[in-house]
Amino acid sequence: MKKVTKAVIPAAGFGTRMLPFTKAVPKELIPLVDTPVLQYVVQEAVDSGAEDILVIISPGKEAVTRHFFPAVELEKRLSESGKDALYAQMQKINNLANIKYVYQYELNGLGDAVSLAEDFAGSDPCMVLLGDTVMDSFSSLPVAGQLVEVYEKYGSSVVALTEVAKDKVSSYGIGAGQEISPAVLKLDTLVEKPRPEDAPGNLAVAARYLFTPGIFKALKQISRGVNGEMQLTDAVVELMGSEPVFGCRIAGKRFDLGSAAGFVAANVEFALRRPELQEILGRQIIDILKEKNILKQ
Ligand code: G1P
Repeated sequence: MKKVTKAVIPAAGFGTRMLPFTKAVPKELIPLVDTPVLQYVVQEAVDSGAEDILVIISPGKEAVTRHFFPAVELEKRLSESGKDALYAQMQKINNLANIKYVYQYELNGLGDAVSLAEDFAGSDPCMVLLGDTVMDSFSSLPVAGQLVEVYEKYGSSVVALTEVAKDKVSSYGIGAGQEISPAVLKLDTLVEKPRPEDAPGNLAVAARYLFTPGIFKALKQISRGVNGEMQLTDAVVELMGSEPVFGCRIAGKRFDLGSAAGFVAANVEFALRRPELQEILGRQIIDILKEKNILKQ
């Protein structure tokens, strides 16, 4: 079985849920405290074994590429002024992985975006990590790495699944199947954004996938689905017709930075983990909650 060393990060969407911020700045550069969400995603891919990464952008989102290119003048200044820790941080970003970029000129959906990775993937398995979502792992393996582990055991494609509230299923791809081990299901249905009454359950596709090259053939066979877009979910269903596809109930938490609520919640949680911010921010939050009578004095 081939080792998984490739990752694709779709980052071409408009980010309409975070307008007006995303009018000029790509949603993938939204900060989580002081680090763009995409840097977390790239790090997760690298920590899961990726050496080569393809980021799919669209015209106007070139700032995404600049984050990972060397900033020679800035780095020179940091080094000359003795800001060694910051200099080392910049160097680390430059050397994270071999990152390439491709344009999706027309925004025809996630399935269309992933199909642009066909040449990059070739005959190799490939992770797909959505560029606006941070996954906080509860295990020693990053979330994408948990999918790699399932792939290495069963040799087939895997999608990350998490439970969502029943009234939220229409925001996600919802899957169901037979449980073959505590965290792994062999999927037999997957539906993109179903109405609650049509959903096969409440296990939602959670921003991470691991695909065999079969996905590219499947992507050629689908037509436009929900919202008139080429849906990756529909290609996964197509793939299920020719090879098994597994669902992995991930040990981790999803932070969708592409929505205002997700952005704020993730920032509060991650900031409270920083020793230097914990006390001052914690106190401030408690004061606000007391002031608003949400927390009793
Ligand atoms: C996409 C996928 C959906 C998945 C979701 C969260 O939807 O199409 O199946 O559940 O990401 O990972 P989007 O949020 O782009 O509408």
